Amino acid sequence: MLLDQLNRPIHDLRISVTDRCNFRCGYCMPKEVYDNHQFLKRSELLSFEEIEQIARVYVGLGVVKIRLTGGEPLARKELEVLISMLNAIEGLEEVSLTTNASLLTPKRARALRKAGLSRINISLDALDQTTFGQLNGIDYPVDKVLAGIENACAAGFENIKVNMVVQKGINENSILPMVNYFIGKNIVLRFIEFMDVGNSNQWDKSQVFGAQQIKNLIASEHRIESIDPNYLGEVAKRWRLVGSDLELGIISSVTEPFCRDCSRARLSAIGEIYTCLFSNKGHDLREILRTDNSAALLQETIENIWHKREDRYSELRATLAPNTQKVEMSYIGG
Ligand code: GTP
Ligand code: 5AD
Ligand code: SF4
Ligand code: SF4
Repeated sequence: MLLDQLNRPIHDLRISVTDRCNFRCGYCMPKEVYDNHQFLKRSELLSFEEIEQIARVYVGLGVVKIRLTGGEPLARKELEVLISMLNAIEGLEEVSLTTNASLLTPKRARALRKAGLSRINISLDALDQTTFGQLNGIDYPVDKVLAGIENACAAGFENIKVNMVVQKGINENSILPMVNYFIGKNIVLRFIEFMDVGNSNQWDKSQVFGAQQIKNLIASEHRIESIDPNYLGEVAKRWRLVGSDLELGIISSVTEPFCRDCSRARLSAIGEIYTCLFSNKGHDLREILRTDNSAALLQETIENIWHKREDRYSELRATLAPNTQKVEMSYIGG
């Protein structure tokens, strides 16, 4: 089995298919930075065939889950074609998607389902328009995201997760309304601590509303009990709201890091592999695909990258110099 320097196997591959997004969430693509940003050119992006080639090697080395991310992955045309191609890879257990749901029309949701997409995670940070509109940076209507979630349900998707990034002083007041809204909806609701990804979101520890604070707030109104993880390396700790069917998750990268079991690699839209969400540099695979085109070299390079991996940024955060250079979230897909 392929293991890294900390004896971690590889289990998940997150593939970013575009660095573009129609939202300007302040914690990810603040508009002051991204409204004048030079995005990747179409010709730079990996083709679906190139993505598939890389994915096949990873599945051969132990990857069982692939998650498509962005920017906003549904902004990539014909994503369904890629999903079908990935689905045909023997040994892969699921292909899933993380989206802001703005492009999740009934038709698109059905097409994704038909292409074999297994699961969808949807970002939603508040239910009231004022807060949500400010958070997404373009005053995008919350009703349209809620409609996107319903379209996914109507298309037959199960195990849908809603991701809420919590920022102290900004949207912690939305935690309880979100809990109450999602009771009985058959959707998992997860809270994510605001993370110091990239260098443009002005992160400061004082803006983190931590896992314990999230739990305390929910417990002020509801009884919650913990549930076992679905799989080793799952980033969310799971909880159930007693007396209801609502499952909650808390992703606590800042206050309770989970690097020990981290089994993820990330592929950027132009074919670089990042071995940590907080890396500053990726390893280029596109050059191998476009010049050498040697399957053996591709496999050997991928194995070497994982073998040498020793990342555990979240565990080391407190000891690292502030403002270390890191890849942007929208470039690597979270
Ligand atoms: P599931 O397969 O449903 O468990 O999805 P997921 O939680 O792996 O993926 P999703 O895209 O929904 O990510 C939710 C949040 O977890 C995002 O904020 C990600 O940036 C964060 N996240 C995912 N993987 C990692 C990781 O390895 N390290 C850190 N620090 N955060 C991660
Ligand atoms: N901290 C925590 N989560 C973030 N996301 C984007 N930026 C951040 C950040 N700085 C989340 C999005 C989405 C997922 C892919 O990552 O809300 O749900
Ligand atoms: Fe877009 Fe998601 Fe980043 Fe928001 S968090 S700007 S929706 S990629
Ligand atoms: Fe994995 Fe890096 Fe996140 Fe730690 S900080 S869990 S090593 S991606």
